[in-house]
This record gives sequence, C-alpha cells and structure tokens, in this order.
Amino acid sequence: MTDASSTPALPVTIHRGDYRPPEWQIPDIALDFELGIEATRVTAALSVVRAAAAPAPLLLRGDGLTPSAVRVDGAVWNDWRLEGSDLIVDLGDRQAATVEVDAVIDPSANTQLMGLYASNGMLCTQCEAEGFRRIAFHPDRPDVLSRYRVRMAGDKAAFPILLSNGNIIESGEGEGGTHWALWEDPWPKPSYLFALVAGDLVVNRDRFTTMSGRAVELGIWVRAGDLDRTHHAMTALKHSMKWDEEVYGREYDLDRFNIVAVSDFNMGAMENKGLNIFNTRYILADPDTATDADYDGVEGVVAHEYFHNWSGNRVTCRDWFQLSLKEGFTVYRDQSFSAAMGSAPVKRIEDVRVLRAAQFPEDAGPLAHPIRPDSYQEISNFYTATVYNKGAEVIRMMATLLGPERFRKGTDLYFARHDGEAATCEDFVRAMEEGGDIDLSQFRRWYEQAGTPKLHLALAQEGEDWFLDVTQTVPPTPGQDDKAPMMMPLRLAAFAMDGSGAALPDTLATLTDVVQRIPLGRFTARPALSVNRGFSAPVIVDYERAPGELAWLAAHDDDPFARYEALQQLMLDTLVAAVSGEAKGREAVIGAVAQTLTGAADDPAFVAEAVLLPSEAFIGDQMVTVDPDAIRRERLALQAAIGAALEREWRAILAQAAPPATDLTPAAKGRRRLRGVALAYLAASGKGDVPGLAFAIFSNADGMTERQAALATLAHGDSDERAHALDIFYQRYRDNPLVLDKWFQVQAWSQRADTVAAVAELARHADFTLANPNRVRALYGAFAGNQAAFHQADGAGYRLLADLVIALDPRNPQTAARMIPPLGRWKRFDEARQALMKAELERILAQPGLSRDVTEQASKSLM
Ligand code: ARG
Ligand code: ZN
Repeated sequence: MTDASSTPALPVTIHRGDYRPPEWQIPDIALDFELGIEATRVTAALSVVRAAAAPAPLLLRGDGLTPSAVRVDGAVWNDWRLEGSDLIVDLGDRQAATVEVDAVIDPSANTQLMGLYASNGMLCTQCEAEGFRRIAFHPDRPDVLSRYRVRMAGDKAAFPILLSNGNIIESGEGEGGTHWALWEDPWPKPSYLFALVAGDLVVNRDRFTTMSGRAVELGIWVRAGDLDRTHHAMTALKHSMKWDEEVYGREYDLDRFNIVAVSDFNMGAMENKGLNIFNTRYILADPDTATDADYDGVEGVVAHEYFHNWSGNRVTCRDWFQLSLKEGFTVYRDQSFSAAMGSAPVKRIEDVRVLRAAQFPEDAGPLAHPIRPDSYQEISNFYTATVYNKGAEVIRMMATLLGPERFRKGTDLYFARHDGEAATCEDFVRAMEEGGDIDLSQFRRWYEQAGTPKLHLALAQEGEDWFLDVTQTVPPTPGQDDKAPMMMPLRLAAFAMDGSGAALPDTLATLTDVVQRIPLGRFTARPALSVNRGFSAPVIVDYERAPGELAWLAAHDDDPFARYEALQQLMLDTLVAAVSGEAKGREAVIGAVAQTLTGAADDPAFVAEAVLLPSEAFIGDQMVTVDPDAIRRERLALQAAIGAALEREWRAILAQAAPPATDLTPAAKGRRRLRGVALAYLAASGKGDVPGLAFAIFSNADGMTERQAALATLAHGDSDERAHALDIFYQRYRDNPLVLDKWFQVQAWSQRADTVAAVAELARHADFTLANPNRVRALYGAFAGNQAAFHQADGAGYRLLADLVIALDPRNPQTAARMIPPLGRWKRFDEARQALMKAELERILAQPGLSRDVTEQASKSLM
C-alpha cells in the first residue's frame, strides 16, 4: 500500500536541462541477500569513488527502505541522515570508501511489482526504471555503472533455483536446509539492469555458438508444467542471436543467457543483463493455448529483449530522458527481425496499425511529448508508444535516408564509440551523421517536437509535366505552440492509370521545407500517386483522391504497403462520409475487396490485413468530433454489405480445411487469419447459419487461433451458441491464466449493447483479480479499446474505468496510470461526453493519497 505520508503533495517535475553528472561513481557493488517471501535481508556494499571536484555527500536513493545499519570501510558509521526516503551519507573529504547498508524488505507486501517481489511463490525483481532503490539504497541513475557480485542464500526447498546476472561463480549448502549461490557479472551495468530470481523452476536448456565460436548456455526457466510451452521462445532466441550477428555484427558476451517467465508483471519483459525476466505471456506458447498473434508476440519480445544486450546494456542511457535511445532503436531492430522471419509487408502493415492506434492519438492529445521528453514527474509514465514506436519510426527514417550500408556504418560507429558508456540520443544521431556522411541538423527536430506532422498534397500540372506540391504542418502540442518543418524521407511513385505513357518509378524524396514541389514526370492525364510508400515517414497524409483512383491503386500499385493503404483510404473515406450521412464509395469498396481476394489469393496474410475495415477508433481520428455510435453503426453496415455481397467468397474460404495448428509457417498463419476475417464478414451479414458455423469452427478447432477467432465472432452476438461456447472455453481453460485472460478479453471486446454491464459483472467474477496486471489489461484494457462501449452516452463506461483506477492505484500505481489515457481524449468528443469524462478525471484526482503516477497522468489529462 502507498504510504500517504510519503506522497508529496505536489509531484516534483524533473527537467532534462537540469542533468548533472554524478558526484560519485560506484565501480563495484557486492549484494548479499538472505531470501524470504516475507522478509529478505539485503546488505549492499558500494565501493564509491568521488567523481566531483568538490566534496559532496553521497546521495543514495531509497524507496520504502529503512536502514538498519550503515558502515564505512567496515566500521559503524553515524554520519548519515534520511532525507525523505533517501539516505545521505557524509563521507567528509574522502575520495573513496566502501559504504555498506543493511535493510530488510518484505517482498510479499510489494504489490506494485517494482523492486523485489513475490509472484506465485517465487521471488523476482523489476528494477527499470527506478525499482532498484526499493531493494537497496543506491544513486539509482543509469549513468552510474558497476560490476555486481551477488550472493544469495535461502531455503533450498522453497528456492531450489537461485539466479542473478552474469556467471555463477560458486554455490554451496548452508545450515538448516539452506543453500547459496554467488553470481558475478563482469560487465559494468546500471542498477536498472540488476536482476535476481529465486524459486522452484524448471529449465529448457539449449546452446548457441557465437560467430567467434564461443558456446553460450541458454536457459528458459518456468514453473513445472509449462516446459512444453517454451520451445517457440527458445527458437526465437537462437534466431535473434544469429540475426544480430549477421545484420548488426553484434555477438553475445557472456557464457549464459537466462530467461525467467513470471505471471505477475507490469510490462512485457525486461532486458536485465544475462537474466531477462518476462511476462509469461511473451514466453509460453503452444498451438492449443496460443494464437498465431501470440506466437508472433513471443518471437518479437524475445528478440527485443535480446537485442537490448547491445542497444541498451552495452550502450546504455545517460538519463531517462534518453529512453528512446535504447527503446526506439531496439523496437526498430525487433521490427526488422520479425520482418525477416515472416512477411515484411505484412509486418510493416501491422506496425503501422499499432502506431496509428496507440501513438497518433497520444501525439494528438494532452499527454503528447517528444520521443525525447523535456520533463516528467514519474518516469514510468513515459514508457509510451511515442518513446517506443515513434522512436522506432525515427530510427527507421534515418535508416531510409542513409540506406543499408551507410546505416550499418553508423551503427558500427555508435556501438564502437559508446561501448560501456551511458549515452544520449544526440550521441546516436552524431554517429549516424559521421558514419553515414549526412547532415542531420534539421532531422534532430524529431527528438524535440511532439505532434504528428501532416502533409497536405496537391497535384500541379504545367503542360504534360506533373508535380506534387507538399505542404507540411506540425500541429501544436502541450507546451509547444510553434513548430518548424521536419526533415523526412518520402517514398513515392506515380502511375498512368490507363497503363500507357510514363510512370515515375519508386523515388525517395527528402522533405525539408514547409512547401516543396516534387517533379513527377510527363503524363498525358492525371497520374495515380503512390505516396509515403512503405510508410517511409510517420505522418498523416492529407490528399483527396477519387474512389476510382484508390481502387486502381489497391489493385495495381507495385508496393504492397501502398496497395493496403489505398484500400484502407477508400474504406475510410466511405465510412467517414457515411457517418456524416453521405453514401459514397460503398460499391468501390466492395469491388476493391473482391479484387484483392482474387488478385492476391496467393498471399492470404496480406489479403487478411488489406480487407479488414479500419478500426472504430481510427475512423474517429478522422473526424472533428468523434461520434462513437454512428461510427459503430456505419462500420457494421459496411461490414454487413461486404459480408453479403461477397458471401460466396467468404464461404469458399471457410469451406477449405484449416491448416493444422502445428503448422506455423507464414503461409499457414495467413490462411488462418483470412479464415477469421471471412467468418467475421459472414457473421456481419447476419446469415442465420453463421452462429452454427462459428460454433462448429470453435468446436472442431485444433488450435487457439481458430478457436479464439470463432469465440470472438460469437461473442458479438446473442445466439445460444455464444453462451455455450463461452462456457466450454471457461471450463476447459479456467486453470490456465493466459488463456483465461482471453475469455475476459473477448467479452470486453464485444459489440453487444450490454457490454458495459457485462464488464462490470466480469469485474466481480471469482477469477478476476487486481493483483495480476495481465488480468486487469485483459478486461479493462480491452474494454477501454472498445470505442462504442467505453463511450456509452450515459458515461457508465467512464465511471467503470475510473473506479478501476481508484481501486488499483493504492496497489499498483504503474498499471493504474496506464488506464488513464482513454479518459484524457475528452477533447475529441461531444460536450456531454466531455463533461462526463472530465468529471471522472476530477474524481480520480480528488482521491486522498493518490500516487505520483496517477496524479501526473490525470492532472495532465485535464489540461
Ligand atoms: N525495458 C523494458 C523493455 O522495453 C521495459 C521495462 C519497463 N518497465 C517499467 N516498469 N517501466 O523491454
Ligand atoms: Zn525495450
């Protein structure tokens, strides 16, 4: 529980410009743990060395710790005091000393899952960003790097496995059924990369031989019973290690690489040096319990955390404002890896969909911030889609501007120059400039300016010479009223729609100015423009095109991403028009979907992505004032029309046998995905036999992809089959937490009119718990993403989410704060909804003893 007395009335704002180098360095740390679920004794011995010229006391951060003793160079020391929760040790004019502090912590009471906590009978840690200070007094800033020696002792029966970073040096038996282990990590690291795990775990072991021939012992540690579900993660790990050698020349640097899966985890996973700790969700997968999307999630996150070993660990961040230095780059690296493992165009479509669903709204709302923020109150609130996903787009743009060879020169220079250092975003850009021989002065604005740039496009003609006129604007965001134009790569092509005449092949233009003219070449008639191909820049393109031109591009563009975009734009235009009562483009949409089904029949994964209607939220993003009910109505109507018009095609797709669930090739995954889309369209058409058909697919499914798709389709309706399938699913998987999450999730996603009440009811279900972040996200995260339900006109959805935030905050402020952004979008809605949303934010803020996390998000959301 949050101790109200330790919560400052007004959270302090930390500014990037206030950075000062540390006054003390700590080359070595020895930690000694006597482990217990309710009481763990920690002795931290820090060998400190003065870095500042003038004597300064040693400032050690603490959070919820009480020092039981302080020693300096082995002798009891009394020259210390507590300032708030921090420990100040006065070392006089010493240049160096060994400072030892003892403290006792209670992992079982640690419900915020930061620091050392108990999960499912095991002990584990999460230290990024500022959790280490909940384990030991320490500067706990990423520019203080140390070599760690960790001794841990505990009851052998309770904790048969003892793991920490690096290599195991020694182990042995102690008194009274205890045992101990001594681990040493030779690589200096910041405190946020420290990790410790103790528990009853089983291991999937494997080996990897690095490019220079060193053998690495790999281990994935899970609870007994889960071992069979670790094979995909292990394969992903080995593929990642190989890929990083081949593509970036990065080799692993320890004798062991361990991954531990825990079921209670605030985020996806954590890249602790040599000992990654994962949410079980991103490790465990088998065909019976995991969907193809889950498999892809495991592969992507395993890769992400592994890649951090270089982009994050060997080169770390100077301060937390630089978070995108490691996260943006590492997301770019995991995206490239997944693209190489499967279909690159489909991966790009998925990544752009995530960017538009999560990052564009953030960039357009009250919590907008640059990928390198200028200030924060609680750093946990800045693990955002902006820092991660827009950060990755910024790296991708540099890679595009430089081309693969020069980009590799840039990254080689970056790793060589900053190995072992705590670096800045500026260091990265400079390495790109020097390695890639390019001037990125203007490009740096991507690190400074928030907001999604908008490109307004118009075609111009001089005789038969055609031009594209691009006008760039960057919208104002909180604290940034005036924006300067950004430098960005814009890939484009132009086609003569009648097939005659000239075409402008794929071209890379570099935008730098507010207004810029790009020559397209000679065309006898207005060309079809293929623009921002591959989504070369993370921008909104504002370009009006007739349905016929979009349909032509959807069929003929030679860039698959651009074909997808053209069809999406066609659908979007049709839906936005329909919401404002104007019927247009429906026939063109149906025609283009039909064309895509036959024209790209050999690439079902692409077809499935391309024929999917834009999400309700994305439709709302195109409108001045979001009308959730009209969007739901019109989207369902278009879905029904496509479902009915192409009924034969959807039935034909479903009539073919599904590939076996054990077949995880991209082709098999694509076929299953398309079957799910076909079923959804057919269901939307309202044909009477669909519930029976969906139930048959549900019952006969040999794997979770088909089973979940059928269940989700049924969950929208009110057939008897719905209730029956939900019941079967629950009975079958009630003991598997990750699958039970899906049961909560599909109901929270439902398009039924009673979803708000259903979610409230599910929150009272015996299997619902606030203690597990995955369960909270499965129910409330899914619900907040269900636009029409969450924005129900009477405000019941808002009240439900605010109730959750209030109930969860004392227990887990980090996860509670992540639920606030949906309420912060109030400016986008009508006045009645605005008032209801603001009232809930105010009700949250009025709670006594509110955490810094929730206070920051809620108060900024009201501005
Ligand atoms: N560095 C981790 C990752 O992206 C994220 C950890 C963030 N955790 C937190 N509690 N803020 O892979
Ligand atoms: Zn990361």
